[in-house]
Amino acid sequence: MTIRAVVRGVGHYLPERVVPNSEFEQLLDTTDDWIRSRSGIERRHFAAEGQGTSDLATRAARAALENANLVPDDIDAIILATSTADMTFPSAATMVQANLGMTHGFAFDVQAVCAGFIYALSSANALIITGQAERVLVIGAETFSRIMDWTDRGTCVLFGDGAGALVLESQTGGGTNADRGVLSVDLNSDGRFRDLLYVDGGVATQNTGFLRMQGKEVFRHAVEKLAATAHTAISKIGLDDGDIDWIVPHQANLRIIKATAQKMGHSMDDVIVTVQDHGNTSAASIPLALSTGVAEGKIKQGDLLVTEAIGGGLAWGAVVLRW
Ligand code: UT7
Repeated sequence: MTIRAVVRGVGHYLPERVVPNSEFEQLLDTTDDWIRSRSGIERRHFAAEGQGTSDLATRAARAALENANLVPDDIDAIILATSTADMTFPSAATMVQANLGMTHGFAFDVQAVCAGFIYALSSANALIITGQAERVLVIGAETFSRIMDWTDRGTCVLFGDGAGALVLESQTGGGTNADRGVLSVDLNSDGRFRDLLYVDGGVATQNTGFLRMQGKEVFRHAVEKLAATAHTAISKIGLDDGDIDWIVPHQANLRIIKATAQKMGHSMDDVIVTVQDHGNTSAASIPLALSTGVAEGKIKQGDLLVTEAIGGGLAWGAVVLRW
């Protein structure tokens, strides 16, 4: 008998405002064709004025709770992956806790940039298998539109806002790969690469700052490291890349997604792709992709998934789970 962290519910929220690539053609020296062909992005959502990450996260959390047929009283902990918390502190997770009317349990943020949801899933899994929590809301939520330099065409056309959430629940499994739930995790970071992707502000500068990225270099690391971390996570439980039903990648760039699938020996039929509609939503991209994949009838109970991400830090990793 093995305790497993099993997905009981999933949901997401996207802000109302949809911004097509063509809007950037009026602001910058760019084209819809460049954005589409270099990144795969066609549109993204931007939060309304005054709408913070905790607001998006709360709406995604409510959707996941409803999908799980649970209420906030049933949840022991909230882990929110974000790099764009409303404030320096308190955590956006405690704001979500208050919004849900939850006065018990505990809530905290995880900051691993675009790999944040992988780190949050790993943390939730650890809480559940060590008996510290029975049910955990794991949320990825971002408002990257707040940290865009609107004069930098190399970054501002790539990112979007949104939120996705899972409810993970402690369930007993047989201890084999046939169990539902998180089966394997691989986490990595290497701070030597901090200059490749960062925000040039924060507590030290007393302003929020803007996202800066050496896109080509990040691209190179992504293509190399994502297939490797996915393979490591899959190998840890004695499986092969070919055993996976669905690859659910971080949605940064369609070319990276395709290269990773190819390295893993999978066709694009096995990959959940949402980057065309959401842009890069950092820590929100994986739960958004999971929720979309379920809503589209692709991901079904019992399917074997690998989800992988890389971002600022650099930080990267993968989780294998049976849905
Ligand atoms: O989520 C965290 C992880 N992040 C990522 O995974 C992002 C990784 N990087 C990428 O996705 C790609 O590197 C980008 C989409 C950011 C850029 O694609 P690229 O093929 O690497 O293009 P590039 O940066 O090498 O730029 C090619 C050209 C440059 O012009 P020159 O120097 O060749 O004359 C850029 O100035 O495209 C130019 N360019 C643009 N042109 C039109 C850069 N941005 C734009 C733009 N519109 N928006």
